[in-house]
Amino acid sequence: MKRLFPFLFTVVFAASTQSPFSPQFIEELGSDIGIQVFNQVVKTKPHENVVMSPHGIASVLGMLQLGADGKTKKQLTTAMRYKVNEVGKILKKINKVIVAKKNKDIVTTANGVFANSGLKFEPYFESKNREVFHSQVKSVDFQEKDTAASTINQWVKNETKGMIEDLISPELLDSSLTRMVLVNALYFKGLWKSRFQHENTKKRTFHGPDGKTYQVPMLAQLSLFRSGSASTPSGLWYNVIELPYHGGSLSMLVALPTDESTPLSAIIPHISTKTLQSWMTMAPKRVQLILPKFTVEAATDLKGPLKNLGITDLFDSSKANFTKITRSEHLHVSHLLQKAKIEVNEDGTKAAAATTAVLIARSSPPWFIVDRPFLFFIRHHPTGAVLFTGQVNKP
Ligand SMILES: *[C@@H]1O[C@H](CO)[C@@H](O)[C@H](O)[C@H]1NC(C)=O
Ligand SMILES: *[C@@H]1O[C@H](CO)[C@@H](O)[C@H](O)[C@H]1NC(C)=O
Repeated sequence: MKRLFPFLFTVVFAASTQSPFSPQFIEELGSDIGIQVFNQVVKTKPHENVVMSPHGIASVLGMLQLGADGKTKKQLTTAMRYKVNEVGKILKKINKVIVAKKNKDIVTTANGVFANSGLKFEPYFESKNREVFHSQVKSVDFQEKDTAASTINQWVKNETKGMIEDLISPELLDSSLTRMVLVNALYFKGLWKSRFQHENTKKRTFHGPDGKTYQVPMLAQLSLFRSGSASTPSGLWYNVIELPYHGGSLSMLVALPTDESTPLSAIIPHISTKTLQSWMTMAPKRVQLILPKFTVEAATDLKGPLKNLGITDLFDSSKANFTKITRSEHLHVSHLLQKAKIEVNEDGTKAAAATTAVLIARSSPPWFIVDRPFLFFIRHHPTGAVLFTGQVNKP
């Protein structure tokens, strides 16, 4: 039997003929920043299972970009490779296509803005978020950290049909400084266009990257699949296969290094939305496919990876510029994280992700500047006697 090795998978919104995007446009889906984050993350966890949603990352960064100005905005725009005023337009279009009628039962996305009650929004931020992301703006009281976290977590759990629980722990919130939590929830359920027969599922050997072997249930089917080989610029070959979902506009692409000694980490830096697009030109052929049944769940802190990619100012309390969210306080991002889960079996795939950014106010103590006429009282507390009182109009 052929040996089975670690592999990469990705669910793509494949180019269907009725796509309103030109091919160049599809390559600019904004998922590249998410793929680069994935590349950063797996560098530190080469032997662990990882699942992430590039589109979820792009959505939350897009929401932040709408509220950012100056250098903070520039860093976001540059990292996402968009033109400054394009981000909203593009994400709006993508979201519309992804959740189009044809995919109605398959992909749902929801964006939520949870704002501290009393926060003075710039009207632009609220209206733009509603327009681009259909964001629901909800008022919460972050002084009640447990209640606020549970409100957000309930919303996420509902929007991901129970797949993502406890996105935000109350410890991520600061009762006096947290002002806003932005959330993107993405849910996907797809049935394979060509299902695997349950009776063909058997335990087979999977070879881990550390030399260990595992007996795991493997799906099997002989079918026509788009598949072939590709190589990185440095000449490392890998094999690719496309597993389409029912409906035609989504598929899972699986990549497996051709040589068993090539680690996934040698292939990953080469992958971008453009690479995925090029895989879609491979011709369908009859293939005997053996694929593990798997469930992967991961929580990823996005702060470090995003900083490595040049998005730094928004995390810095002295540099972040979110004046398009509010002008009454200086906000910055204290946490940016994502939780994701995928389940693959004979019938198809269920996957969900929730991405969140927590915005807090600068922690400098409030100022009290006595630079206008004022009153004073000198009081003896045990008795309540007021010993002196006065007003000062000209010190
Ligand atoms: C934010 O950026 C805008 C545009 O560059 C600038 O006018 C404004 O002073 C900046 N505000 C802060 C608080 O940095
Ligand atoms: C739960 O999620 C569904 C979409 O999946 C949405 O239509 C519904 O309004 C949500 N309910 C609540 C209480 O948020």
